[in-house]
Amino acid sequence: MCDEQTASARIKSSYGRALTAAEGGTTVTIISTPQEYNEENLYVDLRTTLGRPLFLKCEGFNFAGSVKLKAATSMVEAAERDGLLRPGSVLVESSSGNLGVALSMIAASRGYHFVCVTDSRCNLATKRLMEALGAEVHTIVEPDPVSGFLGARLDRVRELLESDDRFVWLNQYSNSNAWKAHFRTTGPAIARQFPQLDVLFVGAGTTGTLMGCARFFRQWHRRVRIVAVDSVGSIAFGAQPARRMIPGLGTGVRPELLDESLVDDVVWVEESDTVRSCHRLARKGFLFGGSTGTVVSGATSWLRRHDRCDELTAVALAPDLGERYLDTVYQANWVQELYGYDVLEEPEFTGSSLVFER
Ligand SMILES: Cc1ncc(COP(=O)(O)O)c(C=O)c1O
Repeated sequence: MCDEQTASARIKSSYGRALTAAEGGTTVTIISTPQEYNEENLYVDLRTTLGRPLFLKCEGFNFAGSVKLKAATSMVEAAERDGLLRPGSVLVESSSGNLGVALSMIAASRGYHFVCVTDSRCNLATKRLMEALGAEVHTIVEPDPVSGFLGARLDRVRELLESDDRFVWLNQYSNSNAWKAHFRTTGPAIARQFPQLDVLFVGAGTTGTLMGCARFFRQWHRRVRIVAVDSVGSIAFGAQPARRMIPGLGTGVRPELLDESLVDDVVWVEESDTVRSCHRLARKGFLFGGSTGTVVSGATSWLRRHDRCDELTAVALAPDLGERYLDTVYQANWVQELYGYDVLEEPEFTGSSLVFER
């Protein structure tokens, strides 16, 4: 026997604080599948950290731990609706990690087998997470000489598709349901919270997040500048390819989802600046993932040039949290080997990212 009152009493005993908030008018959330829960309304005010106003929208508070939950849920639901994904289907996807975790979680919850094709830059913790959720992880160790790791990963996905017709590839690089998820959720959530928004900073990987937000704000009543943040070495916006070691942002293959006419400016950030920015946030107690460091560094640099009087209302997206990066971005040996011994010694954050404007 379990009526609503006893359920509520049980919640109270284990989550006393959450229920206190409920008594103050906030709703308690009870879920039965992991993808149902996502914190959409959490922002960090970075004024004390950066010395200028910037609101960081945290996308890492869900069971997949990243912004990729939205794209994964949207793509899987659409594939099921269209009859592409059926009982017995095997999902296959190329991912630098976070989409892989989100799909591992959804596949487990919906009863599909999932094969994730990633590469040697994927964090160990991320691979372990996918495996713990029942996914099979294929790690590519040799980049394609022209199209890099991503090109080699896509070749492996195509091989798998040819080998067995139960495989279904949602293809996050061209699937419009990825950007539509952000058009429906991320964009409106920011608009509700910041009716005076002037500028939005979004990191670019597949550009699904960027395009969904850009399309939403294009049809909004107020002009919002959309600034894409990319890593130096990524070719997404036509720059030269170079080594990139931090997963998430940047690409070696032109993003099919990208419509550059929706982007006002692009900022490229060196990975050494990404690392510095992550450590700076960590020193204030906020442990974010690598791409958040990139976005915050790029946003700071852009705002220095364009908002000398701190007048603009600015929001940046933080795609995930830092625990997956303990062996990389937050590990002294890894950082020093790749970016030099003094990379973390600079007392002040310079925000020296390159800025390209169109
Ligand atoms: C940590 C992190 N940041 C940013 C992104 C970029 O998001 P999108 O693919 O929507 O451009 C990703 C994508 O995998 C990611 O994992």
